[in-house]
Amino acid sequence: MTSPQICDYENSTYRTDFWEGRGREYEDRAERIALQKLLPTHGTRLLEIGAGFGRLSNIYTMYEQVIILDYSLSQLQFAQETYGRGGRFIYVAADAYQLPFRAGIADGVSMIRVIHHMREADRVLAEVRRVIADGGRFILEHANKRNLKAMLRYAVGQQDWNPYDLTPHEFVALNIDFHPQYMQEQLKQHAFQIEQRIPVSFLRLRSLKQRLPIEALLNVERVLQQSQWMVSPSIFIQSRAVGEPAPLPAIHHPDELFVAPQSHLPLQREGETLVEVTSGQRWAIRDGIYDFKAPLD
Ligand SMILES: C[S@@+](CC[C@H](N)C(=O)[O-])C[C@H]1O[C@@H](n2cnc3c(N)ncnc32)[C@H](O)[C@@H]1O
Repeated sequence: MTSPQICDYENSTYRTDFWEGRGREYEDRAERIALQKLLPTHGTRLLEIGAGFGRLSNIYTMYEQVIILDYSLSQLQFAQETYGRGGRFIYVAADAYQLPFRAGIADGVSMIRVIHHMREADRVLAEVRRVIADGGRFILEHANKRNLKAMLRYAVGQQDWNPYDLTPHEFVALNIDFHPQYMQEQLKQHAFQIEQRIPVSFLRLRSLKQRLPIEALLNVERVLQQSQWMVSPSIFIQSRAVGEPAPLPAIHHPDELFVAPQSHLPLQREGETLVEVTSGQRWAIRDGIYDFKAPLD
C-alpha cells in the first residue's frame, strides 16, 4: 500500500529558521509544561514519532529507552549530534504511515507537532495502535481548528471556513487543523481511551510575546492550561491503548525491534543492513541511524 503524501523536512532549516533564536521560547516551554503533566514517572520504551531534530527528546528522561523517529535523515543527524550514539537513544528514519516495528514494542508513544502534516490521520493512528502495547500511554498534540482566533474571525465574517465543522481544515498544503471532537473520535475508533486533555499555547501572539516577560507569560499559560477551555491553538491529549497491560517483548538488541515496513516480516542483520529474506529487500543502517525510508536497490 502506498503512503499518502509526506511533508518532507529533508535538508530543511526547521531548527534554525523556526526555533533557535526565533522568539519561540514561550511555545517550547508551554509545550514542556503540558508534557510534564502527561508523562509517567517511569516507562520502558518511548517512541517519539516525527521527533525532528530532537527538540523535545530530552524531556523523556523517565523512559529507559527512547526511539527518535523522523522521516528526515538530516533532522535525525542533528538529533544524533545532540544526544550521541550508543546510549538510551535509537534513531530511525521512517514513514509514520508505515512504521518498521514489531507490534507492541513501546509502552509510550509521543507525537508533537506532527499530525498536522497528515491528511490521513486515521492511517497513522492505526500504525501507532499497532506498535504500542496494550495499556501504553500515547501523547498526541494536534493543531486546533476550533481556536479562539478562528472563532472570532468567523463570527465577524472575516473567515469563510467554519471552525465548528468537524472536517479537518487544510489551510496550506499538508498543514491541517483538526477539530478537538474529531480527534477524540479518531482516537476512540482506534482503541485509545482518552485520559487527559490540555489546551496549550494560548498566548502565541507576537505582540504579547514582545511586551511581556517570558515568566509572566508562562504563569498565565499554566492557569489557562488548567482551564480545560479547548480554544487554544494547540491541544495535547493523553490516552491509553485499550487492553490489559502486559510486559513488553524482551529486546536484547535494537535490531530486534524491527520488521519490514509493509509486510511486517522479520529481518536479519547482514553487515550494516537489515534484510527481509523472502523478498531480498534490505534497509541500510547509516552511521547508527536505521534508514527505512526506502529499501536499497
Ligand atoms: C513541525 S516538525 C516537529 C518536530 C518535533 N516534533 C518538534 O515538535 O520539534 C514535523 C516533523 O514531522 C516529520 N514528519 C512529517 N511527516 C512524517 C511522516 N510521514 N513520517 C515521519 N515523520 C514525519 C517531519 O520530518 C518533521 O521533522
